[in-house]
Amino acid sequence: MKQTIKKYLPNNLFLKLIKFRDDISYYKLLLASSNKVFTYFSLITSKEYFLEHQGFTKSALKYERSLRKKESNTYFIRRNIHRIEKGLTMRPLRKEFALRFILQTVKAFSSYVDYKKDTDGSELCWAISVLHSYFLNTESDDHRYKEAELLFNSVKQKINSEINNKAPELPLTYKNNITEDEKNSFFKVLNNRKSVRWFKKSQIELAKLNKALECASLAPSSCNRQPYRYVILNEPRQAARIASISAGTVGWFENVNCIAVLVADQSAFSNIANRHSIYVDSTLSVMPFILSLETQGLSTCIINWADIPQKEKNMGELLHLKENERVILSIAIGYAEDNILVPFSKRKYTNEIAEIVE
Ligand SMILES: Cc1cc2nc3c(=O)[nH]c(=O)nc-3n(C[C@H](O)[C@H](O)[C@H](O)COP(=O)(O)O)c2cc1C
Repeated sequence: MKQTIKKYLPNNLFLKLIKFRDDISYYKLLLASSNKVFTYFSLITSKEYFLEHQGFTKSALKYERSLRKKESNTYFIRRNIHRIEKGLTMRPLRKEFALRFILQTVKAFSSYVDYKKDTDGSELCWAISVLHSYFLNTESDDHRYKEAELLFNSVKQKINSEINNKAPELPLTYKNNITEDEKNSFFKVLNNRKSVRWFKKSQIELAKLNKALECASLAPSSCNRQPYRYVILNEPRQAARIASISAGTVGWFENVNCIAVLVADQSAFSNIANRHSIYVDSTLSVMPFILSLETQGLSTCIINWADIPQKEKNMGELLHLKENERVILSIAIGYAEDNILVPFSKRKYTNEIAEIVE
């Protein structure tokens, strides 16, 4: 739109128009921050806020509804299994814990077994191991505990012995055993990475993308929910098309031959206090993803995703996203062209990004 107006309007008129637009935004902000009534008014008249909240409420309802209908809700199971596993690592180990949610968790686990959504059974193995360890290491006369234990034992009979035997012993024993060399190479990779916007036409090997995804999956997430996925277009025409949708790629989107779009699932939560978790969890996985690509000789540039309803709709259609999925950002991936320039992008000093209290 902006580009079309720029094309047909004399330059001085175009600049006046831009100034007028910026003035309106400024005065709107001034008004909205002047008192609570205007703040509220600005909120309810904003399409962006409205759509974000609508997306949140619909997704939260989906989450709650799946629990009421006793459908398999992997986010719920993953969170609760994680809570139990965390409980098993506490010192001293309490003989009685998780009573508030153990029965609900085993019931959800039972429907999960019936749904068989897990592709290779590894998630099931994890849940079995944790629940097994829980009932082995705890005791209680609470009726919820007793009922949960009975149900767990009966569900275990339904699961084939192969999966039961594969279940590892959990929780794990941890040791930080990073060597000096490993520390140095980590810093070297981190220091060497730059945002690259000029790529060779070469095809990206699937194995390298998979390795990077494996690294992304190692990132922590709140209650281990992992509410995100990467949609990767490793085809130049489609990649450039997707890259062109973001405003931050003007002048270089044609170079993008491969792009990863990070999308997050709003239906992983139902508590409004956790509405930011999709952004926090998903973006935590970005650096391991990018650094893994760097170590494999590839370069990247993160591309911003602004909350513009029409663009969200376009992207949703092009990538066939589900109703509850939000675009978080995208990442251009490729082999850097030889002798390209990159911005220096001065970093703040460490004392500017931290305050250490001793
Ligand atoms: C969330 C995020 C969004 C970004 N969006 C864009 C973008 O839309 N276009 C672009 O050219 N660079 C984008 N960048 C790259 C930044 O400009 C770059 O990371 C920053 O200047 C530091 O430079 P470096 O990555 O080379 O160290 C983005 C980076 C981040 C983390």
